[in-house]
Amino acid sequence: MAKQSKISCCFLVFVLVNLIFCNGVLSVRAENEFISAVGDSGMRRDNLRVAIESWNQCNEVGEEALQTGSPRAADCFDIYKATPQPQGEVCFCNQQLPYVLVHRVTEQDNKLRMGEPFFGLQAESQFNVDLYAAEKELYLGFKCQVEDTPNPWQFWMIMLKSGNMDTYAAKCPKNGHRVGPFPDQNSFPCFGKGCMNQPSIYHDYTKLQLPDMILKGRFFGSWDLEADLSRGMVGNISYHSVTWEKKLGEGSWVFHHVLRTSAKYPWLMLYLRSDATHGFSGGYHYPTRGMSKIIPESPNFKVRFTLNVIKGGGPSSQFYLMDMGSCWKNNGKPCDGNVTSDVTRYSEMIINPNTTSWCHANNLNVCPPYHTFPNGTRVHRNDTARFPYAAYHLYCSPGNGEHLEAPFNLCDPYSNPQPQEILQILPHPVWGEYGYPKKQGEGWIGDPRTWELDVGRLSQSLYFYQDPGTPPARRQWMSIDLGTEIFKDPDQVAEWTVSDFDILVPKQ
Ligand SMILES: *[C@@H]1O[C@H](CO)[C@@H](O)[C@H](O)[C@H]1NC(C)=O
Ligand SMILES: *[C@@H]1O[C@H](CO)[C@@H](O)[C@H](O)[C@H]1NC(C)=O
Ligand SMILES: *[C@@H]1O[C@H](CO)[C@@H](O)[C@H](O)[C@H]1NC(C)=O
Ligand SMILES: *[C@@H]1O[C@H](CO)[C@@H](O)[C@H](O)[C@H]1NC(C)=O
Ligand SMILES: *[C@@H]1O[C@H](CO)[C@@H](O)[C@H](O)[C@H]1NC(C)=O
Repeated sequence: MAKQSKISCCFLVFVLVNLIFCNGVLSVRAENEFISAVGDSGMRRDNLRVAIESWNQCNEVGEEALQTGSPRAADCFDIYKATPQPQGEVCFCNQQLPYVLVHRVTEQDNKLRMGEPFFGLQAESQFNVDLYAAEKELYLGFKCQVEDTPNPWQFWMIMLKSGNMDTYAAKCPKNGHRVGPFPDQNSFPCFGKGCMNQPSIYHDYTKLQLPDMILKGRFFGSWDLEADLSRGMVGNISYHSVTWEKKLGEGSWVFHHVLRTSAKYPWLMLYLRSDATHGFSGGYHYPTRGMSKIIPESPNFKVRFTLNVIKGGGPSSQFYLMDMGSCWKNNGKPCDGNVTSDVTRYSEMIINPNTTSWCHANNLNVCPPYHTFPNGTRVHRNDTARFPYAAYHLYCSPGNGEHLEAPFNLCDPYSNPQPQEILQILPHPVWGEYGYPKKQGEGWIGDPRTWELDVGRLSQSLYFYQDPGTPPARRQWMSIDLGTEIFKDPDQVAEWTVSDFDILVPKQ
């Protein structure tokens, strides 16, 4: 009987396909049809668009590094086939230069530093180091922009950040409010005056290598500004490097990342982001440029990519399989740039098996108030028999939340221009339903994988704070990224590659 129904089922599919063919319209109309939300779907476009940005502890510039200028740079080019000159019958014309690479961003653009004018620069930003960088990003975006539907897009964004903070310099606001100098209670690394410096960023413009037709380019540098990088990553210096490589006309770009911490810079971050192409992106209170031409919104989107972790970055490397950033106010309204009422919301899965759960039945302040299972059942964190404590590393509450459920643990008030809320999860069977790792070690060193994560449904199920009785916020994720945060651990090296990245949203 079972066999019988299977056959008729197959037959039905056959007839359906046939019918579509007979009508001469071959349209695959599935109920769940997805399209790409990013400009460069799957990183397959030869004409690359990539940029780099660097942030200090509170996502600003603070002070430019002398050799780099304003810490924003881009590598954007288009390839044209050179017209061959006919030279007889059997012609392998012009084998040396079959293609021409036209770079859209010049060295002069990339080296722009505060004070130097450029097209579109607002007068009030010219001598403000933070505003200058934000506008330089828009300028680079203008040069790199690719027209597309429903929106133009600009570039993948490499993001660097140092966690150093000089609390005596009073550079970072607290939950969005300016505060004066204060003594540090051992929360932030700082070797003294100037510890919040920006790194050097050097640039190897993308070139086409013959004869194997490999396109390759790189950004690299160090926060240790006196370090000699001519011999690469030697000695105990901090280091960052992202190399991109692709065979012309084939496959995906492969982004190869290296991040190294040092005694002076033990807390460093390196991410590859798909940011919003306009408006604010996660953690940044200035208009941004990016790759997400459609902003993915929970619960309907997926993220696909290939990740190969080569070196983990030590036990304190919070390697984010998926990191997402958004912003909404505690009353559920969208952010508008008001840093005292906007709240950045982050969620990430940490896949380093050295990272353990801090959320326990006897440490409820770092657990979200409840967990929601895929079937919608909610379990309160005090339900010790059913709450999946091991699925959570850490939850922290926004510093401006007025109705937080006790006990709570407030998020670091300094590391964003506005208050923030963070939910960090760990590989666990409860996330398996969404395609995430079910146990520690999955996707880690020696286990490269192509993931297709149902980030939309997972992020819809996560707890985020809102004032009681307010309509639920639209969870729109302006930043979707991958990478690591080595948290206060010197002399550690992380190394990984990312390729095939895509964000998929339902076709409207
Ligand atoms: C780097 O630092 C480690 C520990 O801090 C030390 O053991 C090692 O000798 C240093 N290496 C160099 C080349 O300075
Ligand atoms: C920003 O938000 C706070 C808190 O809601 C409010 O008191 C303040 O007036 C707002 N500032 C502006 C410029 O709208
Ligand atoms: C981190 O994990 C590795 C591999 O499981 C293990 O060998 C090492 O002892 C762990 N280190 C710490 C500090 O837990
Ligand atoms: C929902 O899922 C949870 C966890 O798998 C299970 O314990 C619970 O019984 C389910 N509830 C319903 C109504 O199916
Ligand atoms: C668990 O928390 C809920 C919500 O705060 C509360 O109503 C309930 O009494 C608590 N149960 C226990 C056993 O503490």
